[in-house]
Amino acid sequence: MYPKAIFSILGLMPGIAAASILEPRQATGITVDLGKTYQTMDGFGTSEAFQRAVGMQKLSETEQRKFLDLMFSMEKGAGLSILRNGVGSSPDMRDDHMVSIQPKSPGGPKATPQYTWDKSDNGQLWVSTEAVHRYGLKTIYANAWSAPGYMKTNNNDANGGSLCGVSGASCSSGDWKQAYADYLVQYIQFYAAENITVTHLGFLNEPDLTTSYASMRSSGTQAADFIKVLRPTLDKANLTNVLINCCDTMGYNVMNTMLGQMRSVESQMGVATGHAYTSGPSSPLNTKLKSWMTEAGDNEGAWTSTWYSSGGAGEGFTWANNIYSAITSGNVSAYLYWIGAQDRASNTNSKMIRVVNKAVEPSKRLWAFGNWSRFVRPGAVRVGASASGVRTTAFRNVDGTVSVQVINSGAARAVTITLSGGGEFAVGSAAAWVTDNTRDIVQIEATIEGGKVSGNVPQRSMVTFVLKAAPKKA
Ligand SMILES: *[C@@H]1O[C@H](CO)[C@@H](O)[C@H](O)[C@H]1NC(C)=O
Ligand SMILES: *[C@@H]1O[C@H](CO)[C@@H](O)[C@H](O)[C@H]1NC(C)=O
Ligand SMILES: *[C@@H]1O[C@H](CO)[C@@H](O)[C@H](O)[C@H]1NC(C)=O
Ligand SMILES: *[C@@H]1O[C@H](CO)[C@@H](O)[C@H](O)[C@H]1NC(C)=O
Repeated sequence: MYPKAIFSILGLMPGIAAASILEPRQATGITVDLGKTYQTMDGFGTSEAFQRAVGMQKLSETEQRKFLDLMFSMEKGAGLSILRNGVGSSPDMRDDHMVSIQPKSPGGPKATPQYTWDKSDNGQLWVSTEAVHRYGLKTIYANAWSAPGYMKTNNNDANGGSLCGVSGASCSSGDWKQAYADYLVQYIQFYAAENITVTHLGFLNEPDLTTSYASMRSSGTQAADFIKVLRPTLDKANLTNVLINCCDTMGYNVMNTMLGQMRSVESQMGVATGHAYTSGPSSPLNTKLKSWMTEAGDNEGAWTSTWYSSGGAGEGFTWANNIYSAITSGNVSAYLYWIGAQDRASNTNSKMIRVVNKAVEPSKRLWAFGNWSRFVRPGAVRVGASASGVRTTAFRNVDGTVSVQVINSGAARAVTITLSGGGEFAVGSAAAWVTDNTRDIVQIEATIEGGKVSGNVPQRSMVTFVLKAAPKKA
């Protein structure tokens, strides 16, 4: 509210030279071109995999609600729109292992499966049910880090190894491709029976890395071998709407190498996915598919809940900028953090919400996600936006609103938004929200004059303007 107050004080005291109090600075012009369109957005999200959800279930009901509100509420939280669940591959729940729906081998790839459903899914069924039925989340990405050990060359769901039956991976136990596809379909059907629709399915996580936890190696050729079995298996089970995501590579650019070996199955895939660890989404992937950046985090830095202090890897403003770059340079339709909330003893930024003395506490990383997620809703189409001196994006949401993001790395400034190419779109109302060191998505003033929208963008802040069209005259 402060800009209005200053103007009205000046209005009352016209004799005071404005220069010293309010430098008559030129407003920064932002041009939004509704006629120029880019990617369609699916949203922003995170994960409670590896039993992080189990940990959150141990909190009091009040703190559980606070956690869920912070993650998914459009009024009290970040309004995240994508949840990435881990499909378990482990025989047990030791440490943070994700237990499998078929912990023991049924005897062979052709044997009758012996699935079990514990109605918990490592705590993730609870988070999913809340997200979908209480907060209206629509996108659930079920992602397996590995097949169960007995389906793999190394007989272990951890430590790499490959799926038996893909190119170059033969096993004495036989070809497990169909059994793994059936297994993933069964996982989706367990969720369907709980009235949760899994919308996206991934069968690999960081196939370019071997780790001591669930991990499975795969080349693009091997992934293609499996997709040729998985797609028809999904279709036969009437899961034609479930999109196949692949391949959640450790580095974003590695995905280009895999895609190069997967052209024959690209039409059977839904989304090309990559993580941002060894390389980030700084340019579009070489595909016509949608692309998602499905995992990034400041996994080493010490916990910080700061918005801006020095531009460090864990600060909220840094993540607001990381998302900006992934959308504008990397052409991503979704951006996901690792992870949402956890109560495990670890003092790093590899979570957006921590638990201290059994109480949840958000970081500004969460609010950076919120500044995108609350205003760029699933289905929003990115449109042209340009300015000098600030970073800006604009989106046309499915509900007809136009949201304009402004990230200001410099001193406070006024901005004026001019729309073009919109045809019928005439601004009827405008609102603005700011996030900075002291505020979390707080509404500030936006004014409309001659069809242009103006407002103030504080130093090192992210401000979103939401423009609604004037009702059409009959
Ligand atoms: C399933 O979920 C939908 C909303 O996603 C709801 O409308 C419906 O009532 C639910 N059905 C059951 C049986 O719970
Ligand atoms: C798939 O849907 C068709 C048509 O609705 C139905 O006949 C068939 O039984 C379904 N199959 C499965 C596996 O649910
Ligand atoms: C951006 O992604 C879309 C799919 O969402 C694709 O159609 C388009 O070709 C991509 N643009 C570039 C420049 O790669
Ligand atoms: C945007 O970020 C600011 C800065 O931390 C935060 O105060 C605000 O709550 C965020 N807004 C949303 C909608 O998440």
